[in-house]
Amino acid sequence: MNRTCHCESASGGRGNLEIASSLRSSQRLCRLGVNIDHIATLRQSRRGKEPDLVKGALICEKAGADSIVCHLREDRRHIQDNDLFFLKKRIKIPLNLEMAAAEEIVKIALKTRPSRVTLVPEKRAELTTEGGLDVKGNFKHLKKTIARFKKAGISVSLFVDPEISQVKASQEAGAQFVELHTGIYANQKGKGKEEELEKLRKMTEFAISCGLKVDAGHGLNYENVVPVSRVSGIIGLNIGYSIIGYALFIGLEKAVKEMLKLVKEEKE
Ligand code: PXP
Repeated sequence: MNRTCHCESASGGRGNLEIASSLRSSQRLCRLGVNIDHIATLRQSRRGKEPDLVKGALICEKAGADSIVCHLREDRRHIQDNDLFFLKKRIKIPLNLEMAAAEEIVKIALKTRPSRVTLVPEKRAELTTEGGLDVKGNFKHLKKTIARFKKAGISVSLFVDPEISQVKASQEAGAQFVELHTGIYANQKGKGKEEELEKLRKMTEFAISCGLKVDAGHGLNYENVVPVSRVSGIIGLNIGYSIIGYALFIGLEKAVKEMLKLVKEEKE
């Protein structure tokens, strides 16, 4: 597909508002993907069977989550290969598998067939995903990997920083979705936070003009999620750490429902 992307508003002019508003009217409510990695983190701390990951996913589903997200890391620090199999078998809502574009994991994903894969960068020593994928720098490999997934009927999202070059490269590589990295927004305060939010708004508009669908996530919590869920054109948020942490005090079903209340507020 050879689309022309527009980011006039990012450079001071008007953006491609027609495309953005047609998507907006059909998607005024954000979807919530609940990342359940940290249920598995707790289980792996004892290498035991509890807490039961599938049970957790089913509680999220019952509470109204739109998808279940999990990250099969190369070091298997939380989610294990078998988890994918059981999640896929038991949940009815879509499974979104976060993963590095590493051959071993790609093969597992092709075999498990989640509804969507989200390609992320991965470093062994990191505590969590640090920043977005360098799509430009790994273009050839990512394009080939994306084509393999699309051929298998699995949709592909790329986790990228809100930067024009990375969003444009995502479209050129054949991704259907981008997930904009909100980690910097989450860590900023005051004016810096507002600037990051504005970046997310502009990159959402730009990505939509490229024909991409837009999700966002990382570092979002009960305090900072609403301004992001209100961004026109963002159709899904993927949130894990804060929901699972809050669930320790109020229970998983309530924690998901409280986040849903914030995320599902109708956009203007
Ligand atoms: N989106 C992506 C691509 C991620 O890698 C993660 C963390 O696994 C999340 C969303 C969720 O981030 P958090 O756990 O900070 O809510």
